[in-house]
Amino acid sequence: MAGSPTRIAAMTPGLSESPLADAFSAAATRGYLNTASVGLPPDVAVGAGREALAEWQEAPDWLAWEEVGEHCRGAFAALVGAEPADVALVGAAHVAAGMLAAALPDAPGTGANVVALRDEHRSALWPFLALQARGYELRLVARDELAAAVDDRTALVALSLVQSADGALIDLAAIDGHDALVYVDGTQAVGVVDIPLERIDVLAVSAYKWLHCPRGIAFMVVPERRRGALDPVLASWKAAPEPWGDPYGPPRELTDDARRFDLSLPWLLAPAALASLTLLGELGVGRVGAHCRGLASACAEALDLSPTGTSILAVPGADGDRVRAAGLRCSVRGGQVRFAFGVYNDLEDVEAAVAGVR
Ligand SMILES: Cc1ncc(COP(=O)(O)O)c(C=O)c1O
Repeated sequence: MAGSPTRIAAMTPGLSESPLADAFSAAATRGYLNTASVGLPPDVAVGAGREALAEWQEAPDWLAWEEVGEHCRGAFAALVGAEPADVALVGAAHVAAGMLAAALPDAPGTGANVVALRDEHRSALWPFLALQARGYELRLVARDELAAAVDDRTALVALSLVQSADGALIDLAAIDGHDALVYVDGTQAVGVVDIPLERIDVLAVSAYKWLHCPRGIAFMVVPERRRGALDPVLASWKAAPEPWGDPYGPPRELTDDARRFDLSLPWLLAPAALASLTLLGELGVGRVGAHCRGLASACAEALDLSPTGTSILAVPGADGDRVRAAGLRCSVRGGQVRFAFGVYNDLEDVEAAVAGVR
């Protein structure tokens, strides 16, 4: 029978156990299909977070925490294949979007346009809606209209690589061949799918989902070729070439690297974030993503749905309350039950999801 537990297990034997089963609390992760909302922390991150709290009380050392932040920058860079010098620590994905929007020149009378997806997550949309008042034509389009909407007057294309509502993967190649700046929110993508950095001008990633970091840790990748043209409107002491000395007075001289876009680091969160990023890096983000995508596509196949190629699967017509009553934790988005399979899930969770929507 299609979708029966034995059939699912036979199709995908490699998915019967999480490659990081021992690293997370099994009691918390069983039936947890909501990583697209909040990724659960591994035990090492919880331990590091507790230690940071104790240090804060007993012997705070802000410079040591700043150093941990630098290690986070490096660990994230390695996960996506970027240079650490191209990575900024920005606190939230929408902060990156807002900084980018603010850095664009006013455009009244130029005919310049901004292309974005109509159903986009607001973190990757609202900061750019504000550009209308500064002279840009806004083109909010459906996913299948994206390629046709971009033209020679497009100053910016902004989108999430993996759509949070239903896990759809957007094909960035469809917008190749234009000069437009390409802003990608990779919050639902990094840790799940390969990131085509060569097609991206600015990448933003909130790390509290698929990177299992605490909320408040987010990254922005701005490669050197784009840095000069984007003034960091929030630049402060951290943006100086030597930020660890005296933080007083002019001139406003910015470091060349992407740290010029940094926000002040949430010190107490950095050690837990580093523990999570290190764990993912040790396993290899390719293996992590393959596991998550494999579970989502096993679930799709069992439910006769098209696989998304990501770790998220939306199930139309399913009753969210019934699914939750069956002990699963998931979200309802756009009227559909959204299952999000994390590195800690396994086929038992897929079987529970299939049973829960039937
Ligand atoms: C695609 C996407 N971007 C961003 C966010 C939220 O990130 P932040 O609050 O850091 O802007 C979410 C949360 O669901 C999301 O799905």
